[in-house]
Order: sequence, then structure tokens, then C-alpha cells
Amino acid sequence: MGMTDLRVNLSGVELKNPLIPASGTFGFGREFLPYYDLNLLGAISVKGTTGEPRFGNPTPRIAECPAGMLNSVGLQNPGAQAVAKEELPALRQVYTGPIIANISGFSEEEYVRCVERLTGQEQVAILEINISCPNVRHGGMAFGTDPEAAARITRAVKRVATRPVYMKLSPNVTDIVAIARACAEAGADGLSLINTLLGMRIDLQRRRPVLANTYGGYSGPGIFPVALRMVHQVTGAVDIPVIGMGGVTTARDVIEMMMAGAKAVQIGAANLVNPMACPEILAALPGEMEKLGIRALSEIERVPVN
Ligand code: SIN
Repeated sequence: MGMTDLRVNLSGVELKNPLIPASGTFGFGREFLPYYDLNLLGAISVKGTTGEPRFGNPTPRIAECPAGMLNSVGLQNPGAQAVAKEELPALRQVYTGPIIANISGFSEEEYVRCVERLTGQEQVAILEINISCPNVRHGGMAFGTDPEAAARITRAVKRVATRPVYMKLSPNVTDIVAIARACAEAGADGLSLINTLLGMRIDLQRRRPVLANTYGGYSGPGIFPVALRMVHQVTGAVDIPVIGMGGVTTARDVIEMMMAGAKAVQIGAANLVNPMACPEILAALPGEMEKLGIRALSEIERVPVN
């Protein structure tokens, strides 16, 4: 077991293992301090940050499903200034590893402003640019469902970024490869995929949508096969590294995601079901690697198509 090598590399950023709590499922890290030492994580992707503070959408904004959940949070966050001045310094007190700053916006100008505010922050190792939030009317997913808009945001952000830029893609498209290619050609250093799948639940008694916002993003184990397929398609088409996410729940899921072509893996909804999800997956990883004869995670090769 001691012989397994869990290290991975994302655009020159060394991670001691590939496990990263996904944005929006881990707050700004401190929320998980009662459960475990955050320093065992490969990196942390913090809650999506916008230029101004946001209260988010009206409630109810969570609906449970048999194999996952819907959220329509609406990018609740304290704003870039408070993230830079309060949240990230507080996280740095308890965590010395790489931080992934996740950035959202309603205009090109807002993305740029947010990146300018966060790119120089100590420990921010990667900028993850969310062009895939399904829960806001303007901006968000609108940028991630059109190749030209995705390229435009990528170029604008790259002009001011001093850290590797990973564009976070939406699965709510006909052809995710077209969006991935547009981002890569516009200079993205990497990609994160997938965000949530747009979904809905109905309250049968009330005959109304469960979510106040009507629709929400579906995440959890039910979306894993979709995420895997999209990661495999995208990594077959672009040369930049991909962080894979979507329903990852077990150590075997992590390995499967890396066999689909991902260089690192984010754990999202699993954190909300079991706050110990990440350390438990990490503890199981060496044993599962040994069973498969994998010595180093970085040596996993993307499986070919049949
Ligand atoms: C939200 O805050 O609405 C979720 C963000 C996202 O899925 O991009």
C-alpha cells in the first residue's frame, strides 16, 4: 500500500492526490473543519464568487432525488472583496494546499473584475471560471452553451489571469466538444466538467414545481455515467488537462474518471450526503489501485473507444 503514488499535476500545480471538493459543496472550507484536517485534500475549489455579494435564489432551492439532488442556489456568496479579504485568509490559517478560486459573472466585465481581485491571492493556484451556472437568468450558463461566448470569456479572463485558467463547462448542450474546443483555442489552460444537469421536480399535492426557481441543477451518483461520457469525449478532442466531476462517490469512481481521461477529480454532492466522503475515498484509493495493478495515478491512460 505504501508504494502507491497518488500525486497528480495540473498545469504545473502539484497535488498530493487527485481529490478536490467541488465548488459549492464545501463552502470556503472552514465548514468542514469539525470533520477532518483539510490538509489531506489534493486541492479545494471554493464557492463560486461574483463581483458583488449575492443572497441567491428564493427557497426552496434544494430537492432530493433517488440518485442525487437538485439545487437552485443562485450563486449565493459574499462577493469578491469579502472572499479576498476574509474567506481566503481564514482558509489559509487551516489549510496550506492549493486553492481553486471559482469565479462566476453576469457579464464579461464582471468575470474580469473578479479574476483581477482573486488571481494574486496567496495560495490561489488555479482559477476555475464557471460558465455553466444553470440557476441565474443572465450570464452563467448562457456563456457556456455557445462556443463564441465561451471563447470570448476565456480570452477576456486570460488577459488578466496570473494563474492557470480552467473553464467549467455545462452538460446542458448538444455538443460539449465544440465548447471545449472553443475554450482551448481561446487559450484556456484546462477544463473542469461537468456542472449540473438542468432538471425539475413537482410537488404532487400542490401541483407546483418543488423549487421556487422551478428548475435546478441535478447532481449526485445518477449523473456519473453522463459526466464520464463527456470527459471521455472532451479528452479525446483537446490536449489541455481536464478535471472530471459529476456524481463521483467512491474510490473506484475516481479511477474510472481518470480512465476516462481526467487528470484530477472533484467530489461534489457526496460531501453533502457524508461530510467524510473525501477522506473515506482517499483511504480506499491505494487498495483499489493495488487490486488493479496501478502503482501511480499519473500513469493511468485514457481508455480508447471500442
Ligand atoms: C448555484 O449557486 O446556483 C450553483 C452554481 C452552479 O451550478 O454553477
